[in-house]
Amino acid sequence: MNYNFLESACRKDTNAEKYTLREELFGTDDVFPVWVADMDIDTPDVVLEAVKRRLEHPIVGYEEVPKSAFLAQIEWMKDEHGVAFALEDMLYSHSVVASMSVMIEAFSEVGDKIIVQTPVYPPFFHSVLEHDRELLKNPLKQDTTGKYVFDIEDLKLKIDSKTKLLLLCSPHNPVGRVWRKEELEEILEVCLEHNIVVFSDEIHSDLVYKPNKHIPFASLSDEARDITITAIGAGKTFNMAGFSMSSVAIPNQALRDRFLKVYKRVHFAQGSVLSHVAFEAAYTEAKPWLEDLKIHLMQNFTMLKVVCEKYSERIKVTPIEATYLAWLDCKGMNMSNKELRKFFIQDAKLGLNSGLSFGREGSGFMRLNFAISSAKMLQVVNQLENALENKFRK
Ligand SMILES: Cc1ncc(COP(=O)(O)O)c(C=O)c1O
Repeated sequence: MNYNFLESACRKDTNAEKYTLREELFGTDDVFPVWVADMDIDTPDVVLEAVKRRLEHPIVGYEEVPKSAFLAQIEWMKDEHGVAFALEDMLYSHSVVASMSVMIEAFSEVGDKIIVQTPVYPPFFHSVLEHDRELLKNPLKQDTTGKYVFDIEDLKLKIDSKTKLLLLCSPHNPVGRVWRKEELEEILEVCLEHNIVVFSDEIHSDLVYKPNKHIPFASLSDEARDITITAIGAGKTFNMAGFSMSSVAIPNQALRDRFLKVYKRVHFAQGSVLSHVAFEAAYTEAKPWLEDLKIHLMQNFTMLKVVCEKYSERIKVTPIEATYLAWLDCKGMNMSNKELRKFFIQDAKLGLNSGLSFGREGSGFMRLNFAISSAKMLQVVNQLENALENKFRK
């Protein structure tokens, strides 16, 4: 490996959300934060260098996102994921969640139903409810091996003429699945039959572990392309969420025009000068960093698995195919969600996300972000192991 992720910069004296909100979220600063989905890993040097170079010019006025930035992302999507987007398909966004809100406003009316597959990243269901749309919950189910899969029969039963949109999380946060082509095709068939437009949130698509392969929903067929709005960004991939830049790809012109009506009304504009510089540098220069990062992340995940396996009757790590978010099944601890939270905060001194915040189906689970340096990961697993040992001494 050319990059080493043994250590990372201290974030305590920055405004890092992960650290700053500890008191508010966990009632104490005395927890190691492994919650919000950014990494305690230094952003690639090539990105930081590009931004520093831009700052050598003394004027930071309004700028257009240059074509070269979107072309870099288009090239990346083609090479990495085999999907061909054109320059005119691409729109700048400062946030995937904001793009989702535009989509909801543009393609549904108050009272319409929107499909969400829980447990899922909370803004999926909050966005629906905040727009006074009805949540059509199509929970994922677990097969006999514990693997999460779509429940197509449940989906077919629940869809009616008021169902307008499906918010797809692909790869899925928090369950870590990379949806197979056949699974996505089943979803596509249902959506085509019922004229449902798909918002495919593919923000985690570059953080996929071999041999899994991300399949962009829009790449399934021409029909899929025509009903899909794809959200993609560099924020998760290269740990640069603070640059607030992603994009939406909408190849179908009628869909794009409809989306643009709301998009223009709320004025997305062109974002920050530094963002598009960072975005382009990441897509053109940071691939070697990403390849090494994924090896490191898998090592961290293995460390976590080893500890959990010692207490396998208490805590189980859901097998992971993508993302740096471990979905821990803690039902074997026989604790209420409140007790579970208390155990992690007070006994393990770790700040995780409660499974319940991803929907009722997350009850008994906790989400742990393992995108941290090796040194910090060692600290996390030691704290967890000690707490498990004290509680459930073998
Ligand atoms: C599935 C998913 N979508 C979107 C986001 C947030 O994207 P943004 O910061 O661009 O709104 C996250 C962040 O954790 C996420 O996990």
